[in-house]
Amino acid sequence: MAGITNAAFRILAAEGGAGLVVTEMISAESIKYGNKKSFKMLELLPGEHPAAIQIFGADPSSMALAAQAAERAGADIVDINAGCPVKKVLRSGAGSALMKTPLLLGDIVSRMVKSVKVPVTVKFRIGLNAGENLGPLLARVCEEAGAAAITLHGRPASQFHTGPVNLEAVAGTAAAVKIPVFGNGGIENAAGARAMLEAGCAGVAIGRAAVFNPALFAEIASGLSGGLAEPVTSAVRMKLFLRFLELNAGIYGEEHGMARARKLVGYWLKGLPGASGARGAFMKLKTLKEAEALLIQYTK
Ligand SMILES: Cc1cc2nc3c(=O)[nH]c(=O)nc-3n(C[C@H](O)[C@H](O)[C@H](O)COP(=O)(O)O)c2cc1C
Repeated sequence: MAGITNAAFRILAAEGGAGLVVTEMISAESIKYGNKKSFKMLELLPGEHPAAIQIFGADPSSMALAAQAAERAGADIVDINAGCPVKKVLRSGAGSALMKTPLLLGDIVSRMVKSVKVPVTVKFRIGLNAGENLGPLLARVCEEAGAAAITLHGRPASQFHTGPVNLEAVAGTAAAVKIPVFGNGGIENAAGARAMLEAGCAGVAIGRAAVFNPALFAEIASGLSGGLAEPVTSAVRMKLFLRFLELNAGIYGEEHGMARARKLVGYWLKGLPGASGARGAFMKLKTLKEAEALLIQYTK
């Protein structure tokens, strides 16, 4: 997830039971032109494997080049973003715009598959607009082009990240191909994950519910295997946030790491007593010590 799943967060998710973590989407064109920020985004740390690096773009040659860069960076999987609904991405023909051009999508997949040894996977949505079900067709295109798996967001691109998830459309896609289909969209607990598995998915992908609770994966896995799915307490979550700040400091330096955490602190504090005051206070902090002093009240 752009702006969220940096290496620090991915380590927390891996430790929290995720079977696979995925980077933020990284521009193939930026990789082609040697953009430093984008190369930094390719960096994986030892604690986060298995990890997929997600690439977006619309030019098969650039996508193949970027896939090779991702493989050199240590990606266990290279994932193609064919689901992003953001205007700027769509204008370049990338993200969910690729759903309108199945031939091009197939070409991109096959060029990338031929360029790397690691598996290439694709993430897309059930359609561009409400009522559309492009899933089975696109899944077959990707499968024939050599994709190893698909992550399917069960909402149309026009819906962005809200509204109902179409489980029927997800089931239709899962039934259309032999490669694994991972269901995505609105999963917050074991019941949500079970519904995707019952629709025929081989696994699930979780976005927003993990942003303030990267220990959710183990909670859900335990719930699915019939164990007691103890919800993660807010005290545990706050300890995880402090660890996130520490990991961020290790990656970007203390002050920059703290600054980068500012746009995320709201997610983590949501629903806690005095959250809005604590959030405001956090914006001015520069050191880990100050963060600990502010947040320790929530860790007990
Ligand atoms: C802030 C934000 C950034 C996102 N960035 C990406 C991205 O870079 N790549 C991607 O495949 N999906 C991205 N997504 C979509 C999520 O991965 C996911 O498909 C979507 O939020 C639905 O799943 P959820 O209901 O579990 O969050 C993003 C979503 C949000 C809210």
